Amino acid sequence: MAKDKSIYTCTECGGTSARWMGKCPSCNAWNTLIEGSAEPAAGKNRFGSAHASLAPTSEVLPLSQIEAADFERHPTGIDELDRVLGGGMVEGGVVLIGGDPGIGKSTLLLQAVDALQRSGMNTLYVTGEESGAQVAMRSRRLGLPDSLVPVLPEIQLEKILHTLQSRQPHIAIIDSIQTVYSDQLTSAPGSVAQVRECAAHLTRTAKSTGTTIVLVGHVTKEGALAGPRVLEHMVDTVLYFEGDTHSNFRLIRAIKNRFGAVNEIGVFAMTEKGLKGVSNPSAIFLSQHSEPVPGSCVMVTLEGSRPLLVEIQALVDSGGPSPRRLSVGLERDRLAMLLAVLHRHAGVACMDQDVFVNAVGGVHIREPAADLAVMLAITSSLRGKPLPKGFIAFGEVGLAGEVRPAPRGQDRLKEAAKLGFKVAVVPRANAPKKNDKSFEGLTIYPVDRIEEAMQVVRGLD
Ligand code: TYD
Ligand code: MG
Repeated sequence: MAKDKSIYTCTECGGTSARWMGKCPSCNAWNTLIEGSAEPAAGKNRFGSAHASLAPTSEVLPLSQIEAADFERHPTGIDELDRVLGGGMVEGGVVLIGGDPGIGKSTLLLQAVDALQRSGMNTLYVTGEESGAQVAMRSRRLGLPDSLVPVLPEIQLEKILHTLQSRQPHIAIIDSIQTVYSDQLTSAPGSVAQVRECAAHLTRTAKSTGTTIVLVGHVTKEGALAGPRVLEHMVDTVLYFEGDTHSNFRLIRAIKNRFGAVNEIGVFAMTEKGLKGVSNPSAIFLSQHSEPVPGSCVMVTLEGSRPLLVEIQALVDSGGPSPRRLSVGLERDRLAMLLAVLHRHAGVACMDQDVFVNAVGGVHIREPAADLAVMLAITSSLRGKPLPKGFIAFGEVGLAGEVRPAPRGQDRLKEAAKLGFKVAVVPRANAPKKNDKSFEGLTIYPVDRIEEAMQVVRGLD
């Protein structure tokens, strides 16, 4: 095959182009096309004759006659991981775990696989990034010097597949999918084509043998799983590590799960001896101010089934001719929208100001229920006046300035009351009935509009 036939593959969407362009023709992302060799055409039909045994013609049956077998699950015994997995690893399931380098992917998986091995299962840990000695060092550090987990330092796909076929483990970890390459492809290891093809082969092996395969994937600077999005549709479960490498806390979020709920999170603390589950995490993302400070507002976000209290910080400071809007852990486009709503409906102008907002602790808040807290934090910073002690707020704010209810508002309020918060400004529909005793100690101000919320806050000064 001619090596000179280059194709360009988009690192974002996996689309290809015959020549280099600044903009991907498929997804319109800029500077994402990277060069790779064209794959040989012959024998490339991976569902074709070469693997006929893997794809036999199946009988067509009505749904009612197909047995809906429950999935066989292997709980890892690490509660927070099992929670995001929906109860444990599923036989034949493929899990992709993504996250920044150094966040703890290898640590968590080694802990999980060791627990499974101890419970009598056959496991396999394929390491492509580290040597066996390095993995052994980690297991000593984790206090598992007697671990019986079989380790295979290997990066060639065919050899890995061979080992999987011969050992038939219950669970296999591939750390990481970016290091695996196949001889059958000419593109460079780590390229999109390699990662996609290797993941497809491993996925098919998982389905045909019943082995659960966990793929570790690195995240690129932009936050997409490198190799990238192309892997997400192939696998059953996509878990994502979040958190600040500077803080000890790590979140694992399920962003896709064919065997469980999405957006469920697991919370861990990185300790000297690996990751430990945090079973009562609601207050870990609050920073400890002894007295209230301007520009800080606590919100209750609902992650999966658990409410979490997160501090939203804002800093508003006079900016240059083109003021900056920056957000960490919150959506920037939404910030611009909220500033416009603040101006139009509450008369708070930040046009000539730099506005920075931050969700403390490296959490990513995706739900619009953060709107009210963001706006109150911004106003508080602008006025230089702190919100009252023990104050919380949540609720979505619409373009017309209306404050909309957040899902399961009462659960959020209960958590805040439990943690000793005193004052809450919430959407009217989320306010509890007058005689409800479970919010004792918490004074609740229901509001319909953003200007009303501002008024309430000014009245509390
Ligand atoms: P690691 O699992 O190697 O990260 P990843 O596989 O996601 O790249 O985790 C590396 C970090 O975790 C490293 O900075 C050291 C730290 N760590 C601890 O703090 N305690 C421990 O017990 C272990 C094993 C690692
Ligand atoms: Mg690693």
